[in-house]
Amino acid sequence: MNLVYSKFLFVTLAQDDTRSRARLREAGGCIARGFFNEFHANGTPSNRSNETIQFLACPTPGQYNDGLLSAAFVAHVTTKYRPRLDEIETELARRLGRVATVRALAGAVQAPRYTSDALHEYAAAEHTTGDVSRNVIIPMSKTAAWWSMSMLERHSYFYPHVDRQSGNTVSGHAKAAERGIDTIYRRLYHNHDGYQRADEYDFITYFECADEHLPTFDLVRQSLRDDRRNPEWRFVIEGPEWRGHRVLRW
Ligand code: HEM
Repeated sequence: MNLVYSKFLFVTLAQDDTRSRARLREAGGCIARGFFNEFHANGTPSNRSNETIQFLACPTPGQYNDGLLSAAFVAHVTTKYRPRLDEIETELARRLGRVATVRALAGAVQAPRYTSDALHEYAAAEHTTGDVSRNVIIPMSKTAAWWSMSMLERHSYFYPHVDRQSGNTVSGHAKAAERGIDTIYRRLYHNHDGYQRADEYDFITYFECADEHLPTFDLVRQSLRDDRRNPEWRFVIEGPEWRGHRVLRW
């Protein structure tokens, strides 16, 4: 079941000049109306509203054509009412006109599937960022072989288990990522229309942490990619990684 819906709106300016920046700022101000701005959220997630917006910026975006890695600006909007996200995307694109292109990735927060109470207790992290946040967005999918396994089979990959390929006892996803538990806030968005859809991602993974913990994030990524520790990654198709930081407004 989808609990809340989210959209990441990646904005690439055609030209980075004063006029375009002014349009961007104005458009950002308009779409933010009625949402809680997460820049002010220096607390735990439990107190927060479901209707949130955050503005992210990447000072040095790459020269790509995919509209995601080229984006210097991202708005991340979350709401319980899915049609509102489409309205906001349309509104943003309309207000920006030719000044910028907008590429959207959408997903929904769902109840965890593989997380037992014990795993929840082991891997739960508090949200303590806000105005000091580094933010990483990585869309990804899993292979057909992953989705052809039963839910119970998939479940084992998140726990220490015996790897069928090597016969060794391995850490599994959660333990391989252990170093990030205390310092990296994470959120998983599922494709709300289902998995294995052509030209769409199964998941959007989203992380935030303070500056000094970015190296830990990189270590966690390396560790998860090591299929001798985490065989689950054999089934992962990684999308591009967008990195930026949270700003009060664009
Ligand atoms: C920072 C430490 C991390 C911890 C403690 C952690 C833990 C977990 C746990 C417990 C789940 C299972 C959720 C469920 O029950 O549905 C999960 C799912 C997932 N994690 Fe992580 N994770 C971490 C970092 C990462 C990173 C860095 C990535 C990718 C770059 C990632 C990608 C995913 C994906 C794609 C899923 C969904 C997999 C699926 O449902 O098949 N995780 N993670």
